[in-house]
Amino acid sequence: MTRKDIINDPEFGNKAEAYEAFDDIPTNPNLGRTIGDVINARYGRREMLRGMLGVSATTALFGTSALIAPATARAASPTASRYTFDELAAGNDQTHHVAQGYDAEILLRWGDPIMADAPEFDVMNQTAAAQLKQFGYNNDYVGFVPLNADGTRGLLCVNHEYTNEEVMFPGLGRQDRDAFRGMTPELIDIEMAAHGGSVVEIAQDSSGKWSVVRDGSMNRRITPLDTAMTLSGPAAGHARLKTNDDPAGVNVIGTINNCAGGLTPWGTWLMAEENFHGYFWTDTLDAEGKPDLTAQPEAKQMKRYGVPGMWYAWGTRYDRYNIDKEPNMPNKFGWVVEVDPMDPASTPVKRTALGRFRHEGAETTVSSDGRLVVYMGDDNRFDYQYKYVSTGTVSEDKSANGSLLDEGTLYVARFDADGTIAWLPLVHGEGPLTAANGFHDQGDVLIDTRLAADLLGATPMDRPEDAQPRGDGTAYVMLTNNTRRKADDVNAANPRADSSFGHIIEIKEDGGNHAAVSGTWSILVKCGDPAIAEVGAQWNPETSADGWFGSPDNCAIDADGRLWVSTDQGSNWGKTGKSDGLYAVETEGDGRGTSKLFFRCPVGGEMCGPYFTGDGETLFLAVQHPGTDGTKDLKGFERNSTFEDPATRWPDFDPAMPPRPSIVVVTKQGGGKIAV
Ligand code: FEO
Ligand code: CA
Ligand code: CA
Repeated sequence: MTRKDIINDPEFGNKAEAYEAFDDIPTNPNLGRTIGDVINARYGRREMLRGMLGVSATTALFGTSALIAPATARAASPTASRYTFDELAAGNDQTHHVAQGYDAEILLRWGDPIMADAPEFDVMNQTAAAQLKQFGYNNDYVGFVPLNADGTRGLLCVNHEYTNEEVMFPGLGRQDRDAFRGMTPELIDIEMAAHGGSVVEIAQDSSGKWSVVRDGSMNRRITPLDTAMTLSGPAAGHARLKTNDDPAGVNVIGTINNCAGGLTPWGTWLMAEENFHGYFWTDTLDAEGKPDLTAQPEAKQMKRYGVPGMWYAWGTRYDRYNIDKEPNMPNKFGWVVEVDPMDPASTPVKRTALGRFRHEGAETTVSSDGRLVVYMGDDNRFDYQYKYVSTGTVSEDKSANGSLLDEGTLYVARFDADGTIAWLPLVHGEGPLTAANGFHDQGDVLIDTRLAADLLGATPMDRPEDAQPRGDGTAYVMLTNNTRRKADDVNAANPRADSSFGHIIEIKEDGGNHAAVSGTWSILVKCGDPAIAEVGAQWNPETSADGWFGSPDNCAIDADGRLWVSTDQGSNWGKTGKSDGLYAVETEGDGRGTSKLFFRCPVGGEMCGPYFTGDGETLFLAVQHPGTDGTKDLKGFERNSTFEDPATRWPDFDPAMPPRPSIVVVTKQGGGKIAV
């Protein structure tokens, strides 16, 4: 299918769905295949949900096991799980749900004023100037930096990944289908002002209720519209980072598509730049209307990264997003950005030592020998899992830690069939990373991280999303799905062809040391419905019919070292019939591989965050793009959402307000640790 076919395919209800399908072309040259069918017909979803398939057709799809598994075979909530709560019933409707005995309150919504002088949100009269002082769109990563000893005041650090114009602006509709004709300069600026991140002070009162401190002195918006940033590390100042506005190659305006992230041990915030390619534009098109990169000197790596994706019209307004004008500008994106939330005047820094790819997250830990370790996924079908290890050790003195993100080694993972993992260093001059292969210095290795990792023979994965280390040398890697993997491409660490539901890998680093260059791995769970044999799911059999899930995405470790996993099924939720949610996934003992549903999103929303405070008593969740994905599968709605006609108006349920991405704060009624 061509780009145009996919944009216009009614199967894809919004731009994000369409571009995910289009964009996840297996660019990895280690797989010598061409684009397959975009739509996975195997588990055809709406037909299943709507009951339009006859028994014989269903049997053909799933074999007989699904049909003979009676509904009454649902297991009860697992008993060997350490997570103490009564499991929520799975499903999908217009609002959120949390396990009994917990409160789930809306803390912050898109458009909420977060500066003392910010105007109230006026959805019918949005301006970029207002949005720059209001909470941004599509909240993904959430971190909390305490400001006092008992943790009742702190800074919430939130990434705003992208925007959905069809439910954000009145009367606009999907712009990519209309050559972006409705995107006025002001609307483009509003979109840009709604991206990036927010630092917001919050406080908990004596009753346990959290609220926003609107005039907090450290409150701040970070955006691609106007936030000046610098680049540091081995690629800073590289010839390939020089642009017309920055002949030194060390400065850049803004950050984009900030997905998951992390906090460092010294309290700074890492914003991962994920689908940066989607924001770049070209007016140089071939006969099919696709970008023609013939004249681009960096065409090879641009193709490997998917630049220019042309998801947004920003390049029609700003030269810096147009590769015809600024061919090096994409090289200034795809990094991890460090922000000091305690200093609202500080300049965010893009840390090039951590590599350039579609960074999903950047969760940190300290190795047993005192070094900083950052686990990072490259979220593309058949791309890789990375980690970064600093050269120096983490100091109690915050100011001494700046160089830890500039001086260190980036590794990419090779998952071997014998259950071992080798972390392969991306170091210029070592192995194939030489001038003969186009790598003239370490800057080249980092700017072209994907090309370097290809040469090292890293293992192509089923879309590495978030990865979460635990201090004991263990890390959990979320592989969300990969329907393009064919039977002859499976490997031990990605064992299913046509994987609609993903899996989770557990890594145990040698010696319990996160800085180790080798370790072992195992599959914790293979996701999907265990009652359908052909899905090939693997759960602890105590997992209930409500507890299994598909498409793990973000994850967190709570104060007791337990794993929590949130899901993003995109438009695929119809394949499970469940909304996205937060699950308690047991990793230890007899309950290993069980999962329990704790919270679920309103229809069309993706579950992001999660973040537990250090005392384990507060959980921050981010509901991203409510009302958008897969709403054609919501019984009784069965169409794509628009601003005027959304599948849900969560969380306000005001007929004048569209759905709003929001942060939810979860606490236990009467207080105490969550799920304990
Ligand atoms: Fe932004 Fe890979 O999720
Ligand atoms: Ca994600
Ligand atoms: Ca995480």
